[in-house]
Amino acid sequence: MSYETLLYEVRKGIAHVTINRPQKLNALNHRAIVELVACFEQIGRAAEVAGVILTGAGEKAFVAGADINELAALTPAEARDTALRGQALMNDIEHLGRPVVAAVNGFALGGGCELAMACTLRIASENASFGQPEVKLGIIPGYAGTQRLPRLVGKGRALEMILNAEPISAQEAWRIGLVNRVVGPSELIPAAEEALQKIMANSPLAVRHALEAVHRGMEMAEAEGEQLEAAMFGLCCASADMKEGTRAFLEKRPAQFKGE
Ligand code: COA
Repeated sequence: MSYETLLYEVRKGIAHVTINRPQKLNALNHRAIVELVACFEQIGRAAEVAGVILTGAGEKAFVAGADINELAALTPAEARDTALRGQALMNDIEHLGRPVVAAVNGFALGGGCELAMACTLRIASENASFGQPEVKLGIIPGYAGTQRLPRLVGKGRALEMILNAEPISAQEAWRIGLVNRVVGPSELIPAAEEALQKIMANSPLAVRHALEAVHRGMEMAEAEGEQLEAAMFGLCCASADMKEGTRAFLEKRPAQFKGE
């Protein structure tokens, strides 16, 4: 499948998805959202893909937000649909069942910060910045930023970022737990690949169940989340991966997982 706003390539089991509108700092227009939905649907069907790296084209921006040219012309009903469509994409990414690493190579503002937050891990280059500047435009975050930011960094810091609309540096984002790691710009993609390879060495089935237990569990009361965890734990114990993982440990050899 070819895209107008994305570059897509699979290398060594990793799908590299690059938002490719560098002249507009990779702002997410309608087309980019539709293509990202299609792309993650394609990845969902691609058995050879064990993980995803999501980044932005050029050296300046990951994604500088939703496309303000389009936003400026939305009716209230269109705006609601736009928010729901963006939220659905973020949920698709979060519930892909495979790890997705945001390699944040510059501005991650508004929808860009929300996109990064929907990913499993965020690795940022030193020149990256993060922010939810929507209130400056007379709107609020609409791609679930009001929900994911407080879950990632706590309510107090999330409210500060959302209400003062000021961006924070990569280093500050790391300090508050918004990003997992900060690296030099040339190390960004290798660091994202390394992070994925570590995950990909483990049982794909256990990784999928762990993702589900964490993501769905965070939407539940703790006692319900624990029930879900126990069910997922039970499912793991029905898998060939579990038999292989435990046997490999006892035989003192690396496990060969098949994801079954
Ligand atoms: N939507 C549409 N176009 C955008 C955009 C967005 N979110 N962010 C940047 N662009 C466009 C600019 O309009 C400009 O286009 P032009 O060359 O045709 O005029 C181009 O990208 C380069 O941006 P520019 O503002 O010239 O770069 P800069 O280095 O001076 O500033 C930012 C960079 C990120 C600080 C600035 O572009 C910005 O504040 N962007 C909007 C961020 C935002 O509010 N996002 C949330 C949207 S809900």
